[in-house]
Amino acid sequence: MNENAVSTTRENVLEVRGLTKRFAGLTAVNDVNFHLGRGEVLGLIGPNGAGKTTLISMISGTLQPTTGDILYRNVSVVRAPAFRRAHMGIGRTFQIMRPFPGLSVLDNVAVGALFGGSGLRKLPAARERARACLQRLGLGHRVDQRADDLGGPDRKRLELAKALAMNPAVLLLDEVMAGLNLVEIDEVIDVIRSLRDEGLSILVIEHVMKAIRSLCDRVLVLHHGERIAEGSPQDVLASPAVIEAYLGKRKS
Ligand SMILES: Nc1ncnc2c1ncn2[C@@H]1O[C@H](COP(=O)(O)OP(=O)(O)OP(=O)(O)O)[C@@H](O)[C@H]1O
Ligand SMILES: [Mg+2]
Repeated sequence: MNENAVSTTRENVLEVRGLTKRFAGLTAVNDVNFHLGRGEVLGLIGPNGAGKTTLISMISGTLQPTTGDILYRNVSVVRAPAFRRAHMGIGRTFQIMRPFPGLSVLDNVAVGALFGGSGLRKLPAARERARACLQRLGLGHRVDQRADDLGGPDRKRLELAKALAMNPAVLLLDEVMAGLNLVEIDEVIDVIRSLRDEGLSILVIEHVMKAIRSLCDRVLVLHHGERIAEGSPQDVLASPAVIEAYLGKRKS
């Protein structure tokens, strides 16, 4: 499949080499290679259990790879702890959301601002940044609520706001559109597009194919931990191998 011509000329922000993760008796990710260019949106798709979350957990540092290397701005970060990678500019959302339940929506996001690469170390400034991120996600009216009082779609927005507050250069999004309705999906697509226009490099894990088609410069497909296809959204989604991998699985 043809790789997107534009992406090959971009400066790489992230490069993954031979990344492998074995759990007892199961290879969840097997020898995966890819790069992410500055200002690029890369889709990461594949059926349930393909290894998508495992892959980004290794990039963000919450899981240690069995073998392989991860280069961020041409420097290996594979041994850096998760908090250091966040500080360097690798931000992520979690598929299984983990809001701090007792904290307000505002302070949940302020924690992201303090933890990440925004350089903010004082709570008032972190709250100011948090407020701006929440407004961007349409949650400005919920800042004083407790995070555990939010419904599903608002929790998804909160998760994205937390990652944004970290001021990332690379953003790893794990199914931020799951459970959203069509209008809400379009709103999140617009936010992601505007982040891309600001120069962020974004890896999007998504089962919502409309989002993959409309957002991604390139798409990488995992199946049983292996890369089975890579190319433009049109080519990849028409590929017989990809259609076969998805048969009987979730589609949209
Ligand atoms: N901590 C773990 N210990 C053992 N096995 C794990 C662990 N985490 C993930 N796995 C297994 O690794 C495989 C890949 O899981 P992963 O969560 O990365 O898939 P995924 O592509 O994100 O799936 P989904 O689309 O359902 O989110 C699955 O078989 C899963 O059961
Ligand atoms: Mg997953």
